[in-house]
Amino acid sequence: IANWKSNKTIKETEEWLHSFSDGVKRKGVNVEGKTVIVAPSFTSLEHAHYCLGNLKLSLKFAAQDISPFDEGAHTGEVNGRQIKELADYVIVGHSERRKNFGEDEEMVNQKIEHSLKQELTPIVCVSILEQTQKSKLKSQNYNSKLKSYENKVVIAYEPLFAIGSGKPDTPENANEFAKSIKNELGEIPVLYGGSVKSDNVKSFTSMPHIGGVLVGGASLDPLEFLKIIKNA
Ligand code: 13P
Repeated sequence: IANWKSNKTIKETEEWLHSFSDGVKRKGVNVEGKTVIVAPSFTSLEHAHYCLGNLKLSLKFAAQDISPFDEGAHTGEVNGRQIKELADYVIVGHSERRKNFGEDEEMVNQKIEHSLKQELTPIVCVSILEQTQKSKLKSQNYNSKLKSYENKVVIAYEPLFAIGSGKPDTPENANEFAKSIKNELGEIPVLYGGSVKSDNVKSFTSMPHIGGVLVGGASLDPLEFLKIIKNA
């Protein structure tokens, strides 16, 4: 998953998609068999979705956030029904949102519920195990409809020290963490995120409990992201 965070204009989004597409063709990278997801800003999401029609790439899109409310009088929010037209996934509870916008477990849970209501797959970011324990996914009063979606949730383990630092966690530690998450929540995909690059991706994806990676900085360059996919 490429998490572009607060980067790229509409024009830059189009350029990224064209370079990525050219790279796929020139380097013969087999993207098939791997789920490749790009999470642009809301301003670029519609155009990215439009470009994909012409490029015939097997990419999926994610929104970087979702409103904790249904549609209505919530200025500035983008709700699940709006996202559903453009994306299949939503990043929820990223540590940057928890830290900078005060998102707590209650809000993360509301966002998970609104994603699931629209059949969007939430990619729930956690940096400590406690965040999964407080998750609605585990709660006793979790209603039966949501329960049936449980296996459609993806967890991304992103330790704070590893984000944007160039100092990733060790693959062994990330694997242990992923194993603990699966003990809590069952056999769901667990990804690793934090300073992933093309030269270290394999060390994570070769671990038995790690099902993929969530990439920030290194995903901004389409050819580096392509290398990450190739090496994963
Ligand atoms: P970096 O890959 O830039 O460390 O960011 C990780 C991240 O936060 C992805 O969501």
